Amino acid sequence: MTRLYIAADHGGFHLKQALISYLVNYDVVDLGTESEESVDYPLYSDKIAACLKQDAEALGILICGTGLGVCMAVNRHRHIRAARCSTGLDAELARRHNNANVLCLGGRVIGVELAKHIVNHFLNSAFEGGRHQRRVNTFSTPAC
Ligand code: RB5
Repeated sequence: MTRLYIAADHGGFHLKQALISYLVNYDVVDLGTESEESVDYPLYSDKIAACLKQDAEALGILICGTGLGVCMAVNRHRHIRAARCSTGLDAELARRHNNANVLCLGGRVIGVELAKHIVNHFLNSAFEGGRHQRRVNTFSTPAC
């Protein structure tokens, strides 16, 4: 069973709870936050990154208001390939071509049903390797 780490700030709290209820066939680890009280999203990006460092086969879902802040913050970590997705095709190609290991969603910009659709595409798609592996390999080299 795929392990999924999930975390959100206050802007993503409700969507996180909805997805946890939906993802009953996965081993879901909830890393918070636990309410709508204001928190700083980079903390939750760092929590997901730390878990995926120890558990490289797992995947992550990060949610903030837009999905943008958590994505920028978590991509600071070398072992993370996070994609902020707003369609099922985004999520599918993020897995197939970019080997994304974290899906970022915007709790204030997409509804629960669209989020479930995006998550399904993310979880049911696999990295294709080949020419995509060569390209992804360059991500771990500092650009400047
Ligand atoms: C919090 O108000 C909001 O800035 C955050 O959830 C996120 O959208 C940042 O990118």
